[in-house]
Amino acid sequence: MINIALPKGRLGDHVFNILSKGGYDCREMHDANRQLIFTSEENGISYFLVKPSDVDIYVAHGAADIGIVGKDILLEHDPDVYELLDLGIGKCQMCVAARKGFQDDPSLPLRVATKFTNIAKAHFDDLNRQIEIIRLNGSIELAPLLGLSDVIVDIVETGTTLRENGLEVISRFLPISARLIANKASYSFRSAEIDQLVRKLSEGIQA
Ligand code: PRP
Repeated sequence: MINIALPKGRLGDHVFNILSKGGYDCREMHDANRQLIFTSEENGISYFLVKPSDVDIYVAHGAADIGIVGKDILLEHDPDVYELLDLGIGKCQMCVAARKGFQDDPSLPLRVATKFTNIAKAHFDDLNRQIEIIRLNGSIELAPLLGLSDVIVDIVETGTTLRENGLEVISRFLPISARLIANKASYSFRSAEIDQLVRKLSEGIQA
């Protein structure tokens, strides 16, 4: 059996679609409510549904042989895994955003709310801009509205969340998409099986 960690939620829907196109039936998972482990005897695969930001942890520790995870999580966590394939799904941008009309005062540190603290630090380091990081876990868009931060660093997909909260993009600095990753030891022992899966998924993407 190959163990695969898959992300729940918005990216999960794209993932089920791409797996189906590659010949891996995912109807059972798609319709599932609270079940977290699914086994396909015919394909020799066990799927685990995990929080999107936990996929790389399961793979790095070998609890899953492979996984599907956003590039944002890989850049933020920098896990010791192989990145095998850009799946071209879950496309979005890492952005700096603020309230409409926000004027930056370069004489003060910029207060940045984000869950991507490493990505934000690296970005503002590149710009030589001094910042103060405020780490949040979700609903980041609230921070500038409540005066908790000047700007946010977050992923923007459709732009709806920013628009509905009176925020606007200041800069888009990192394109993001979902990647197939592998545990290093699993890949060295099971490269034939994993490569076959990569091939089928690539064909599914192109179809
Ligand atoms: C992400 C992100 C934004 C939103 C952007 O949140 O943090 O809030 O999606 O998407 P949009 O541009 O299509 O509106 P997510 O749904 O992952 O939930 P979170 O607030 O818990 O981070």
